[in-house]
Amino acid sequence: MEVTEAPDPRLDGTVLAVRDLVTVYPTRLGVVPAVDGVGFELGAGEVLGIVGDSGSGKTTLARSLLGLVAAPGRIESGEILLHGRNLLDFTPEEMRRVRGTEIAMIFQNPIRSFHPGFTIGWQLTEAVTRHQRVSRREATDRAIEALTWVGMPEPAVRMRDHPHQFSGGMLQRVMIAMSLLNEPAVLVADEPTTALDVTIQAQILELVQRLAVDRGLGVILVTHNLGMVASICDRVMVMYAGQIVEEASVDDVFARPAHPYTVGLLDSQPDRATGARLAAMAGGSPTMTALPPGCRFEPRCAYAEAACSQPPDLWALGSGQTARCWVSKRHGELPAHPDGEPGTAGSGTG
Ligand SMILES: Nc1ncnc2c1ncn2[C@@H]1O[C@H](COP(=O)(O)OP(=O)(O)O)[C@@H](O)[C@H]1O
Ligand SMILES: [Mg+2]
Repeated sequence: MEVTEAPDPRLDGTVLAVRDLVTVYPTRLGVVPAVDGVGFELGAGEVLGIVGDSGSGKTTLARSLLGLVAAPGRIESGEILLHGRNLLDFTPEEMRRVRGTEIAMIFQNPIRSFHPGFTIGWQLTEAVTRHQRVSRREATDRAIEALTWVGMPEPAVRMRDHPHQFSGGMLQRVMIAMSLLNEPAVLVADEPTTALDVTIQAQILELVQRLAVDRGLGVILVTHNLGMVASICDRVMVMYAGQIVEEASVDDVFARPAHPYTVGLLDSQPDRATGARLAAMAGGSPTMTALPPGCRFEPRCAYAEAACSQPPDLWALGSGQTARCWVSKRHGELPAHPDGEPGTAGSGTG
């Protein structure tokens, strides 16, 4: 690869740093700022959750990191620093290599990531030899080893099977094995378990978490399921209408959410015992081509005050959390709910 700059000194222990990323889709009704000034850092061995409603920009953010934004969408500005090198300066050819070897992505529906006509073994081996000068024999050994990492029983035998001969959960394991073949530094998982039943979901998440710890892999887990975040993430970013509205450790987010949207998200998770939703959030997400001029959540927000007609920044609060909220900023935290309920969403969510 051509790019051989020294690592960015700002990045101690950080594998991936994203700064002021803007990704847009031009549409008939105007430009959709699907990712609008997003920044974050990811450490080796860390699992970062990204949560938010459908349409908040999670998938666009994930695909931006891999240079896979669907046309006519495009990254307009920002930096994506992988070990200090800005991926936005890379050629398409260099990005192809980054995707095969340094940042891997696993998708919601594993079956679509495999060719139905070839064995898993052939496809895994091919994924190694495409990027590395190793013999077929060595590539095969590496593929079998990767299947062992993801807990595949009888890996050498299963190498001879075609994709349709695997269950959804097992195929997702194969997908994860494929993503790990070339020892990437970052794994991006976009709703990786949505198509799987609950028991298998838990197994896959456990696997992802173990891989992060054992292999020092930085993981970005995109989900709309806060339970999933609670079980395996270290930190969480909450997205709303293209922006990060809160970022904090998982413990802080559950103990004292600092953005009113996060409160609503916590309150609207299905109750573990009954499956019933505790409370639906009023209103819907804004139209991305006609965003409110101030805080984007203001039209739905029970806490809204005069200041909220101006756009808020993502401010650091004393607690180590950050929140894009005038009310939290003024109080240093999100105060008790204006309707008299506690600001913490602990009421029954566990
Ligand atoms: N190919 C596209 N063309 C136009 N708009 C798009 C396209 N893909 C996504 N969007 C818009 O970008 C916004 C973010 O979408 P997405 O990243 O898929 O969010 P999420 O993954 O959080 O559901 C939405 O408003 C969506 O309608
Ligand atoms: Mg999505």
